[in-house]
Amino acid sequence: MANPAVLIVDDEKNILATLSRALRVEDFDVEVAGNAEIALSKLAKSSFDVLLLDVMLPGMDGISILRKIRGEGNDVPVIVMSGHGTIETALEATRLGAHDFLEKPIGTERLLHSLSRLFDFRKLQEENAELRRRTGSADGLLGESAPMRELRERIELAARANAPILIQGARGTGKELVARAIHEGSKRAQGPYEKLNCAAVPAELIESELFGHEAGSFTGATRQRRGKFERASGGTLFLDEVGDMPAAMQAKLLRVLQEGEIERVGGSELLHVDVRVVAATNKALPKEIEEGRFRADLFDRLNVVPLRVPPLRERIGDIPILAAHFLTRAAENNDRPKSALSVGALRLLEGYDYPGNVRELQNLVERLVILTPGDEIRESDARALLPIAGGGSGGAAFYRPGRPLREMMEDVERELIVRALEHHAGHVTKTASDLSLERSHLYKKMKALGIRQKAEK
Ligand SMILES: Nc1ncnc2c1ncn2[C@@H]1O[C@H](COP(=O)(O)OP(=O)(O)OP(=O)(O)O)[C@@H](O)[C@H]1O
Ligand SMILES: [Mg+2]
Repeated sequence: MANPAVLIVDDEKNILATLSRALRVEDFDVEVAGNAEIALSKLAKSSFDVLLLDVMLPGMDGISILRKIRGEGNDVPVIVMSGHGTIETALEATRLGAHDFLEKPIGTERLLHSLSRLFDFRKLQEENAELRRRTGSADGLLGESAPMRELRERIELAARANAPILIQGARGTGKELVARAIHEGSKRAQGPYEKLNCAAVPAELIESELFGHEAGSFTGATRQRRGKFERASGGTLFLDEVGDMPAAMQAKLLRVLQEGEIERVGGSELLHVDVRVVAATNKALPKEIEEGRFRADLFDRLNVVPLRVPPLRERIGDIPILAAHFLTRAAENNDRPKSALSVGALRLLEGYDYPGNVRELQNLVERLVILTPGDEIRESDARALLPIAGGGSGGAAFYRPGRPLREMMEDVERELIVRALEHHAGHVTKTASDLSLERSHLYKKMKALGIRQKAEK
């Protein structure tokens, strides 16, 4: 195997010398950079297995380097070093996805320990990625923030058991990906994975969807049909939006979970099924229980292993990685060259609070890709698209005390035009006619409001 390649960035020559000597002895391929410029050009040219990054550099500092490369989608593991080891810098660095933080003077032993932990972690990650590739899963759960790592650990543990799992989290947090990860991490990975969205199926049909039916059991049931439980036998059944399940079905589901047997609608025999149930909801079930909409006994039965998916604003450290991932995907989907987020744009994205969580970030990045012509998404591009004052519709979202009416009107106008453009996939002519404006007038408005448009084909 090739030696691991490390790039050390520090402006102090003797630190570069000491550290590279220590690492070469341990069979690392070492390169050094004395400032941000050299570091960035080396990072652009070759790929490294780890980056050792000093915080205090002349010109561009280490944190900005970290932001910049993350914005460009480079996810090289980073260990941050600082002589001025304030806790804020450490936090800032780990927030941006640094793996470790070393205080100067740096002992060789401490450094090697940190590196070996990092490589163990990477190896585990690669094995997981390999497993995902082999099992054919599309995208995994991205994110290296502390809450995300913790969640992954819990998923791994929970996956091995056979007990039901309840995934709770706000909309767009990734519950569906978590359910998939549980299936793929379990002994049932080779078995079927079936899914039912309890909110999307009319109440009268849920029973037949879940348990199947015999021919002639109700109007329209012309032939026998197997339900999700039977189809999932030997595998996993994902019950999405379980909080929306009608009360009568809740009772039946509870019985199946207790007995492991189902009965088709209109049938008379009990069928044994071997199914692991994973349920998800974005409702606060304790409240649903209190108000009589959800059965407490079903909750207890499902909640043997509770998994909480934190909202995105509690793990902003994941934003650079997620944004870069969505950037690549949006560029591919829209036949655009891959663009990069500027440091300023990324900082803005990190500062927003995402009531719609990861899905909202994904939509936002896609809009940015579509509406930004250049190969860099600038801070002003992001500012023009970010929902104003916490989003929401209605004038309340735009009102800020002390702000001139004219400026607030501009905010409203900007938001409306951006939405219209989005609706017409960035097509200015169509948007103008939709809004009953002359095309040139719309252009003028867009320019005045700082809205950039996608190049029309
Ligand atoms: N950690 C993550 N890494 C990569 N993509 C993610 C991650 N979390 C969420 N996504 C993406 O965000 C979108 C929303 O995720 P998902 O559908 O799993 O959310 P959800 O919690 O089920 O939302 P809802 O409650 O609205 O059903 C999906 O496109 C998903 O691929
Ligand atoms: Mg979902």
